[in-house]
Amino acid sequence: MRAIQIDRHGGPEALTLREVPEPVAAPGTVLVRTVASSLNPVDWKTRAWDIGPAFPMTLGWDLAGIVISAGTSGYRPGDRVIAMSAQVATGLGTWADLVALPEGLLAPAPAATSLTEAATLPLAGLTALQALARIRPARGDRLLVTGAAGGVGGLAVQLARRSGAVVDGLVSTAAHVPEVRSLGAETVVHDPGMLESGVYHAVFDTAGAAVEHALAPGGRYVAISDDPLPDVPGAAKSYVQEDGRALAELAALVDSGELRLRVAEHHPVHAVRHAHERFERGGLLGKVVLTF
Ligand SMILES: NC(=O)c1ccc[n+]([C@@H]2O[C@H](COP(=O)([O-])OP(=O)(O)OC[C@H]3O[C@@H](n4cnc5c(N)ncnc54)[C@H](OP(=O)(O)O)[C@@H]3O)[C@@H](O)[C@H]2O)c1
Repeated sequence: MRAIQIDRHGGPEALTLREVPEPVAAPGTVLVRTVASSLNPVDWKTRAWDIGPAFPMTLGWDLAGIVISAGTSGYRPGDRVIAMSAQVATGLGTWADLVALPEGLLAPAPAATSLTEAATLPLAGLTALQALARIRPARGDRLLVTGAAGGVGGLAVQLARRSGAVVDGLVSTAAHVPEVRSLGAETVVHDPGMLESGVYHAVFDTAGAAVEHALAPGGRYVAISDDPLPDVPGAAKSYVQEDGRALAELAALVDSGELRLRVAEHHPVHAVRHAHERFERGGLLGKVVLTF
């Protein structure tokens, strides 16, 4: 089978599509034929930075595919599933034709979307859901999401709206404002200087943006980027965790029409270097998908 691996850290040229042995589905794991995955910043960072498991390293966190062998799990061959695998910690990369993952990481794929679209949900969706669980936006709260046009930010805006909070967004360019408003954000700006000072009950910072002036006294501040936290009392980072049950909740929200998935581009697996280059340039509205 094919897998996208690296033998050294570096630019997109470090990515190699090669033949590797098929995984063996150990007890408790489910063997999935990959249909699509999506690119997340952690993928290029693991490629470029001195992090991750030993070489040769198969990359990839997101998975959307078809169950091939289900073992004693509740799944059946032919089921459409999605999963997030914490590749950098476990070494179980999803950018391969076949992936064997513990059953608890999997969830039924949304029925209402293609697996190509579904591949954009796992990492970004779990990150948004878990960070918002710490922020606990409530009806009437004002929440600011930075990087609101991004993979995580775009889902966070939609999820936070369900709580009844008023959600505003900070984006990188005025061109992204209409998209984020269409996701349910009230006020969307592209310059932190345009934000009202001291009004937000909470900030979800996905972009490492300097927005602490906008937080109300005692407001909650949760960040996910690599940037240092601002000097805000109680400011915290959230780190995404594998969770098939939470992923199933997210898939149900896609099926009920409450969560819209956004694909900017898809690329076949042999064009993975190009896909990385495109993703790292930024400026996208929606995610970059790899198809197998
Ligand atoms: N801690 C965790 O568990 C965890 C999990 C997931 C992601 N992350 C991190 O969180 C960050 C966001 O991830 P993602 O998947 O959402 O990335 P993404 O899809 O690339 O989205 C980032 C968004 O932020 C925008 N942006 C960048 N700088 C900005 C600024 N100063 N003001 C406003 N918007 C800005 C980008 O716009 P342009 O494209 O136009 O620049 C893009 O729309 C990354 O650093 C990622 O590594 C951490």
